[in-house]
Amino acid sequence: MADTNTLKFGDHDYPVMSGSVGPQVVDIRKLYSETGMFTYDPGFTSTASCESALTYIDGDEGVLLHRGYPIGQLAEQSSFMEVSYLLLNGELPSKGELDEFTHTITRHTMLHEQLATFYRGFRRDAHPMAIMCGVVGALSAFYHDSTDINDPRQRMIASHRLIAKMPTIAAMAYKYSVGQPFLYPDNSLSYTGNFLRMTFGVPAEPYHVNPIVERALDRIFILHADHEQNASTSTVRLAGSSGANPFACIAAGIACLWGPAHGGANEAALNMLREIGTPDRIPEFIARAKDKNDPFRLMGFGHRVYKNYDPRATVMQKTVREVFDALKVNDPVFEVALQLEHMALNDPYFIEKKLFPNVDFYSGVILSAIGFPTTMFTALFALARTVGWVAQWNEMISDPAQKIGRPRQLYTGPTQRDYVEIGKR
Ligand code: ACO
Repeated sequence: MADTNTLKFGDHDYPVMSGSVGPQVVDIRKLYSETGMFTYDPGFTSTASCESALTYIDGDEGVLLHRGYPIGQLAEQSSFMEVSYLLLNGELPSKGELDEFTHTITRHTMLHEQLATFYRGFRRDAHPMAIMCGVVGALSAFYHDSTDINDPRQRMIASHRLIAKMPTIAAMAYKYSVGQPFLYPDNSLSYTGNFLRMTFGVPAEPYHVNPIVERALDRIFILHADHEQNASTSTVRLAGSSGANPFACIAAGIACLWGPAHGGANEAALNMLREIGTPDRIPEFIARAKDKNDPFRLMGFGHRVYKNYDPRATVMQKTVREVFDALKVNDPVFEVALQLEHMALNDPYFIEKKLFPNVDFYSGVILSAIGFPTTMFTALFALARTVGWVAQWNEMISDPAQKIGRPRQLYTGPTQRDYVEIGKR
């Protein structure tokens, strides 16, 4: 029995801690020393790995807050640069602070020239995420003056460098895959406009940034900026807990994000919508998703944490319409998506299991309309999530309670036995 402030286990009381909002947590740090037991929680579904003041999610209510601000308000009214400042510094910037931050990020967008030759070591058909992992990991070899993690100033410089250079790195990965020359950043453009130009522009002619596409992509970046202690963020924190340099930690996060269960789902959702092709085939796919003997799932539906409409999907749906109108795209995939969503949301199977569209349901549709190949989708996610990763990493390093991450296990292997010489086995 637990009283209001402790959870009783055997003869021991374990303090119950409260955050500013959200579930309370039981402090079991002394559990092993007092009882000789570990807790067992594969997938960490019931484990708070850290204290954090960055992002709050209420999956039942469909709420996502960054530093207290609802994601819908940020996506509608803010910019990716402003959200980046907010995540890193805790408060929305004044006009002067935002200008200075934007100026700093803009002046860090170029890569060391030698890195261009680094790209040439990759095969042309390399996946952009393979290139991103390699190049970001290699940054520590180029920027020695920002790898001392105990110096807050060096940490901030490394954070600025990573946020600033990710668009350049991602755009170069794309350019390399299509055999076009790399474009240097253009400091007269916005963060997102510059990325669009480096990706889709060519040196032979001027590139005009479409403001609606620029706004839509900036919004996608905002929607992906941070998401609490997800797999890639936890990877960054775990890598950083050993004192590894920030570039190596973010490369670890990129590697984790690459997996289809994490960053790769929007590509799968788009492929599924294309496979459905026309609205008349939707019932067939819904029936398959409900069939226990069929492994097929509606991609872009359901979420480990959200058991309500993913608040990011609401913004995405609106953005698809804007982009399609602006680019005069007439792709049946959007109609299929809208009708599929409508039918699923009215189907008892999806209602009972609380399966709603997630952020990935519409993001692939938008990115494809803008012109990105599917292999770039996860690279764009990595670009946007970098600010969340560096903000979480900074928070961890500044936390006096921080220690190296070292989970324990329930051992089920053989007990001690004697070595047998090879001829006697
Ligand atoms: N289509 C059909 N049925 C589904 C779906 C789906 N997309 N998602 C879950 N279900 C069913 C499961 O079959 C299960 O049914 P059961 O209770 O009869 O066995 C029930 O709903 C619960 O599903 P779980 O997989 O146990 O739920 P979990 O929270 O572990 O999974 C996940 C969440 C992995 C996202 C799942 O919903 C899924 O596979 N969705 C499709 C992939 C996807 O869109 N991933 C993107 C996630 S968002 C992101 O990472 C940015």
